[in-house]
Amino acid sequence: MATFSGGGDKNEATERHAHVVGWGMAVPESALTNEELSTFVETSDEWIFARTGIRQRYIADEGESTATLAYKAAQQALEVADILPTDLDLIVVATSTPENIFPSTASLVQDWLNAHDAGAFDLSAACSGFVYALNMAADSIRAGSIQSALVIGAETMSRILDWQDRSTCILFGDGAGAVVLQASEVPGGVLSSVLRSDGAGSDLLGIPSVGSIDADDSRASSNGAKLYKMYMAGSEVFRFATRVISESIEQTCTAAGIQVNDIDLVIPHQANLRILQAAARKLGLDADKFMSNVERYGNTSAASIPIALCEAIEQKRVQDKDHIALVGFGGGLAWAAMLIRWGVPEPSEQHGSMFNRQRRHVQYRIAKWRSRSRRWRRRVNRKVREIRV
Ligand code: UT7
Repeated sequence: MATFSGGGDKNEATERHAHVVGWGMAVPESALTNEELSTFVETSDEWIFARTGIRQRYIADEGESTATLAYKAAQQALEVADILPTDLDLIVVATSTPENIFPSTASLVQDWLNAHDAGAFDLSAACSGFVYALNMAADSIRAGSIQSALVIGAETMSRILDWQDRSTCILFGDGAGAVVLQASEVPGGVLSSVLRSDGAGSDLLGIPSVGSIDADDSRASSNGAKLYKMYMAGSEVFRFATRVISESIEQTCTAAGIQVNDIDLVIPHQANLRILQAAARKLGLDADKFMSNVERYGNTSAASIPIALCEAIEQKRVQDKDHIALVGFGGGLAWAAMLIRWGVPEPSEQHGSMFNRQRRHVQYRIAKWRSRSRRWRRRVNRKVREIRV
């Protein structure tokens, strides 16, 4: 199990803190480049790259889904944290493209991991979903109701895009990122969060679904959006995004008692490189303090922050005791920021012990068997009841 380096003052040491101790990401096999896109949509690599910073995105094929990507990212995160799935108390999947309306994608991941002592639910807050979910899990840890949580952002945006609409279909991609959060007495981890929403902007960005007030027989909503297809008023969302990124980061710094200049790295939702550059200017921070990988993944909605976090860690841009700001913004309109003081698990622990790795693999195999046998038992019981009647 992960341990923490570093100490803290005695008063703080008696409190519970929520630390990120594991991380992982997964993207589909196939990438779709701007050039390939421009063979079936009226657009160009020059336009897309100049306006967004995107060069390619990953697109799920038939065998891949929100749940399979989430599951892969989760396995990696458990590996880094070196804990067993059975140690998890909670699994939250932030997504706008769930496997089903219900059961939740989180429940499927729980079953596939054999995390049989964990509660599981999906959270819907669009591109801010991962920060919302992390905040909920951190609060549950700090309140003492759970010890460890798996928080995932996972999307298959390609399945809700209108591939005729060049103003949206060029932007999004598929993927998943996951973190394990764990209780610790070591000060740090999640320091503060700001969650906000402005539902008056709900007509600017969304995906009409089954319960939609506008879902009439023609399967179209009053603002022209089609059922299960994304609509977005791009330039208005752009203005909203640049405003709330700087505002919410300032608020979360104030709440944590630090200055904006004390931030070592901002891990923002990856919507558009120009948004990130404008937000950096507003905050008076160097643009290179904003992590960006939108070039390779496009906008993966709730998955973009944990994917960018994984890559920042891999690139050694996150160090022990660093102040990391996460910020999400999008449909709702909703936005959220969080400040984390990083506590990196001891290097020797980062790759997990061989013994625990084997135990995890056994648990994944048990998960398949357990799930099948439960279904089979239910079927047999049903038959027995029918025969008795
Ligand atoms: O994750 C949720 C949060 N989402 C965001 O934060 C996205 C925010 N918005 C944006 O990133 C940008 O607004 C977009 C990238 C969506 C659009 O960029 P823009 O600079 O705001 O362009 P625009 O919508 O003002 O369109 C400019 C022109 C238009 O042509 P006219 O009317 O000037 O002749 C569009 O028709 O570009 C045209 N256009 C395109 N041209 C080539 C729009 N999409 C395309 C395209 N290829 N794909």
